[in-house]
Amino acid sequence: MKPRRICDGVHWMGAVDWNRRLFDSLIPLPDGTSYNAYLVQGSEKTVLIDTVDPDMVDVLKHQLEHVEKIDYLISQHSEQDHSGSIPFVLNKYKQATLLCSTKARDLLLEHLDISPDRIKTVDDGETLSLGNKTLKFIYTPWVHWPETMVTYLPEDRILFTCDFLGSHIAMSDLYAGDDPYIIEAAKRYYAEIMMPFRKIIQNNLKKIRELDFDLVAPSHGPIYDHPEKILSAYDNWVSDKVSNLVLIPYISMHGSTETMVNYLVAALAERGVTVQKFELSTTDIGKLAMALVDAATVIIGTPTVHTGPHPSVFSATHLANALRPKVKYAAIIGSYGWGTKAVEQISGLIPNLKVDVLGTVLCKGHPKEETFVELDALADLIRDKHQLN
Ligand code: FEO
Repeated sequence: MKPRRICDGVHWMGAVDWNRRLFDSLIPLPDGTSYNAYLVQGSEKTVLIDTVDPDMVDVLKHQLEHVEKIDYLISQHSEQDHSGSIPFVLNKYKQATLLCSTKARDLLLEHLDISPDRIKTVDDGETLSLGNKTLKFIYTPWVHWPETMVTYLPEDRILFTCDFLGSHIAMSDLYAGDDPYIIEAAKRYYAEIMMPFRKIIQNNLKKIRELDFDLVAPSHGPIYDHPEKILSAYDNWVSDKVSNLVLIPYISMHGSTETMVNYLVAALAERGVTVQKFELSTTDIGKLAMALVDAATVIIGTPTVHTGPHPSVFSATHLANALRPKVKYAAIIGSYGWGTKAVEQISGLIPNLKVDVLGTVLCKGHPKEETFVELDALADLIRDKHQLN
């Protein structure tokens, strides 16, 4: 993809990574991603906002082929998918100064080969004149590291947001338009990357809503030309509201836990509660993370292996704890062969989840009549709790 004009003096200069399928060796990217850099040319100064993943530095080299000078390079976020090509840019433009937040300075020096005298920090609210254009830097911490900031260009009514409000999606269109799938991709991105910082993001949203802009230009995914769509979606995701939704991530080894899960799914459905089940040996963990954005309740289903939960359950539970969803209720169900410490071990894995534990239903061997009675009681309790929300 070549440089693309957004308006006079503002161009997209990024790289589209159509084939990437995993981020951080963990997060599935079913739709690829992009690393968006933006060139802003004022009447006096020229700025590049963010760079691209170092694996795609050759794309950035082509994008900048006919750009003769860059006065300032802005790093909105120090993670390498945006900062990794900074050394190339500073080397090509010897007069360029790297601008970043105060917390970013050390991170950039630790992660990249940059001379400290090339860096200048900017304060929250500081402005930079490019002649006929102005940039204003606004600190928005924890989207997604502590040092992150966004950049506002008031003359063109554009807000550059790096990870914040972004989506992992590779596409040839520059703008999101009205495509609802972009919001779906942004929800996956929020769930996997941003959800642990939900409360801080509430403040960041308030801060950026004080600005007037027509475009939100993140450093992943398309530019939002209807910004209210992504802003209102974020308002909803970061709110304290939960849905009448139960998630059941589970594994079954010999069928007993699966039988219990299926019974409970039907019991909840009969009671008007929506359920999503996730078989953990095959599920896309991104889908599970997305469901955690809204769900009121999580029920973990596990057999017992070597006295504890199945390793796949262990891993998913650890991830759910790290993502800190706003889920309110939890329960554990499953079967065991001769003895189990699964409940104690799972409980120890979720200190971050401020949940009301509604109970456990465990059975030795196959589920029996009394097991189903307990599952019905659990379904009643969940229905009653959800009706209170
Ligand atoms: Fe897109 Fe946190 O990096």
